Amino acid sequence: MRTNAPLISIKQLVNQFGSQCVHDHLDLDIHNHEILGIVGGSGSGKSVLLRSILGLQRPYSGEIFFNGENLLQISTEHFSRIKHHWGVLFQRGALFSSLSVADNIMLPMKEFSPLSPLEQKELMYIKLNMVGLESQVAGKYPSQLSGGMIKRVALARALALDPILLFLDEPTSGLDPISAAEFDELIVSLHTNLDLTVVMVTHDMDSLFTICDRVAVLVDKNMVVGTLPEIMETPHPWIQQYFGGVRALARSVPHHQSAPATPHKPTGQTNG
Ligand SMILES: Nc1ncnc2c1ncn2[C@@H]1O[C@H](COP(=O)(O)OP(=O)(O)O)[C@@H](O)[C@H]1O
Ligand SMILES: [Mg+2]
Repeated sequence: MRTNAPLISIKQLVNQFGSQCVHDHLDLDIHNHEILGIVGGSGSGKSVLLRSILGLQRPYSGEIFFNGENLLQISTEHFSRIKHHWGVLFQRGALFSSLSVADNIMLPMKEFSPLSPLEQKELMYIKLNMVGLESQVAGKYPSQLSGGMIKRVALARALALDPILLFLDEPTSGLDPISAAEFDELIVSLHTNLDLTVVMVTHDMDSLFTICDRVAVLVDKNMVVGTLPEIMETPHPWIQQYFGGVRALARSVPHHQSAPATPHKPTGQTNG
């Protein structure tokens, strides 16, 4: 029977480093096929949260369920098999500088897939194409690429094993506004075409407004979650300050460059 059970359910998560508590019994559900934006102040624990879900950071306590299985209790081998279906683009988007674009993208295929070298190469070109890069980029090295291209190659690598779930940690930070908007469009089209669930940490207001179905705000070591209009009505001072600025901006800038006033999804969404 098909249920609306969350894809990932985080319950009572506690993370602390020495005496510093980062997450204090945090709860968060991630739904199938949504684009969830995660925001919060610098150092509030957004990356630690992603690292916890990815099994890179053992929480102090709490539970993290994926499709009903507690990830903190399953074997390493089982977790690793599950993670083959997850794609990750880390905050610093690191590519291996000594490897060509092609080899960077084929790295997960080499490690985790039974594909022959020829099949890997064919798939690598498909992934390059998916992220909007031309075939000749395959032979280049990271130092020869622009910031936006590096993010795209890192995204192609994250897509290497056909994930169902994509984690992005501040993917558009460091990009100029046009490249950032193009990257957002790419995420939306991948989300739609590949039926991906996307979890994206972002500081980018445009991303929050234009592509996220729901927003999770990390404040006071816990989560406030909702649609953007719901979040903007939340009286928490940090949230008011964070989103209040956008409203003020939307009122003050000329029409031709006004900030988006309403959340909107470009293409037909099927929710639920
Ligand atoms: N491995 C670690 N050891 C000690 N402190 C850490 C570690 N990782 C993160 N922290 C601390 O946890 C807090 C949250 O970090 P992080 O999740 O990276 O913040 P952000 O929300 O900016 O992504 C920060 O104060 C950071 O210094
Ligand atoms: Mg971070």
